[in-house]
Amino acid sequence: MSDIKLGIVGLGRLGRTHAMNIANHIPGATLTAACSIAEEELEFARVELGVEETYLTYEEMVDSPNVDAVCIVSPSGFHTEQIRLAIEKGLHVFSEKPLGLEIEDIEKTVEIINAHPEQVFQIGFMRRFDESYQYAKEMVDNGELGELTLIRCYGIDPSSGLESFVKFAGASNSGGLFADMSIHDIDLVRWFSGKEVKRVWALGKNAAYPELDEVNELETGAAMMQLEDKTIAMLVAGRNAAHGYHVETELIGTKGMLRIAAIPEKNLVSVFNEHGVVRPTSQHFPERFKEAFINEMKEFITCINEKRQPGVSAFDGLQGTKVATALQKSIDTNEIVDIPS
Ligand code: NAI
Repeated sequence: MSDIKLGIVGLGRLGRTHAMNIANHIPGATLTAACSIAEEELEFARVELGVEETYLTYEEMVDSPNVDAVCIVSPSGFHTEQIRLAIEKGLHVFSEKPLGLEIEDIEKTVEIINAHPEQVFQIGFMRRFDESYQYAKEMVDNGELGELTLIRCYGIDPSSGLESFVKFAGASNSGGLFADMSIHDIDLVRWFSGKEVKRVWALGKNAAYPELDEVNELETGAAMMQLEDKTIAMLVAGRNAAHGYHVETELIGTKGMLRIAAIPEKNLVSVFNEHGVVRPTSQHFPERFKEAFINEMKEFITCINEKRQPGVSAFDGLQGTKVATALQKSIDTNEIVDIPS
């Protein structure tokens, strides 16, 4: 079987990781093309990764006969348009989350994706491909926790990134704390429970940088959500974790409970020194989800070869953004928000 030829758009913070993974760690895939508006990033792709075709515009890349599939890692505002163009050109599509920023635009895009079932579409909810999350999911599906009653999720970025976030918050639209930080947690809630979110109530507070109030951004937020079967979900989202990158999930059921990464450990090392017993923590998402990013891309290539769609769908992307939008509305209006089914 010949390799699947992939073109990547976006070689920034995450695009670089995906590009290196495709070039070095994904059997059956070749990174044949790369697109970015930054010439130095294209130089990196050519020199470091041996990518033969580099483009300054996406439209040119998807016209290349040497591209079977695209990996979209551009800023979120470009996703829907780039997905639609790739689908129209007959390509398979892996797109980073979020699927898009506006619900109507996402709905239109999902329709086009669904009208082409022979082309594989996958969205970048990589936590579903993390070993610990898969282990927990199997337990839930086997009924080992009984019926779920509550799901609690923490997603907090390290304090080290907060100052630069404050600096650029006015200039670039993050979509708000919940769209930016909680979209993976929202997906986990839907994935573990198999249920949709019906009602949300969100709160937020800025303490370290009160100037974030002026740009309608949040340092720390929390939300209470009710699912369609009355299961409760609680989210904490933030940008100010002093100890590193804190992603933690708790599931409580009628027969037991479990926690994933209650302490966001970097590895199995404990340091015994003048500070006591110290457990080093993971510091950023590429470190914590290194294997998950590789596993999700392997699944994308396997789906293309086996002519099937992955378990994580465009619909999951749409539903995640619907919930994130409701959470932002709750912050803006200071009210409980219902999500129509
Ligand atoms: P970034 O700003 O670091 O990189 C953006 C890249 O897109 C740059 O290479 C830039 O040159 C390129 N670009 C910008 N406009 C373009 C255009 N018109 N045509 C072609 N290329 C263009 O962004 P980052 O942090 O890498 O995020 C990219 C996407 O990945 C976002 O949608 C973000 O939500 C998602 N993401 C997902 C994560 C996850 O946990 N799955 C983690 C971080 C980001």
